[in-house]
Amino acid sequence: MIRVCVDLEALSSAAAELVAAEAQRAVQTGGRFAVALAGGGTPRRTYEILSREPYRKLVPWEKTHVFWGDERCVAAADTRSNALMARQALLDHVPVPTVQVHPMRCNRSPAASAERYETELRSFFAGGAPRFDLILLGLGDNGHTASLFPGTPVLAERRRWVAEVHVAEEGMHRLTLTLPVINQAAAVVFLVSGGGKASILREVLEGSPGPHPVPAALVRPAGRLMWLVDRDAARLLRHR
Ligand code: 6PG
Repeated sequence: MIRVCVDLEALSSAAAELVAAEAQRAVQTGGRFAVALAGGGTPRRTYEILSREPYRKLVPWEKTHVFWGDERCVAAADTRSNALMARQALLDHVPVPTVQVHPMRCNRSPAASAERYETELRSFFAGGAPRFDLILLGLGDNGHTASLFPGTPVLAERRRWVAEVHVAEEGMHRLTLTLPVINQAAAVVFLVSGGGKASILREVLEGSPGPHPVPAALVRPAGRLMWLVDRDAARLLRHR
């Protein structure tokens, strides 16, 4: 499903509505809501809207368990931290129990940090499949999503749930959920805004798969896949 919204504000309102609906659905059917948040800049407005009425009341925060799709290996107070952004925009303003917020910590070696987060996930999913109720994702202009960057070994990872990635162009390590986890989610929602994403969005949604598929195009969840895009990002799409 692709929904074109007039601008980032409309996209963010639609995203907040979707998160609330998925949260209510998950709690009604399974008694809890397990969500993996996206990082980067696009989701910030969605998180701010969720932190205020009516969503402050609509989302069953006390039954919500917050994880991340990826994290940069920076200090917790570093402005590049995805967890810091989500805390400032949302988590510091809603009553999610602290024990139910699971930031990715990268204070050991990246590989050890990835292993530790995977252990945390395996414990949460009680040894079963890692089936998130909702995973929010963004789209980088090179086609990466979470920290699944083009040309990195993590794209071929089929066993591990969490992996470390060295992003050469950033000179930084990151941690990311792997495709096997993302593709087991009950629902995946991409949030894509801005004319700078128009070309890559068309490639992901309408391009023909080549020898090096765009990472975001590898996200084909067993559950529902939804794209919330604004008009600028959608301007090159032939079908919308
Ligand atoms: C990250 C994100 C990443 C992001 C895209 C889009 O940690 O950077 O997880 O996958 O979603 O880079 O970022 P913007 O929303 O800032 O364009």
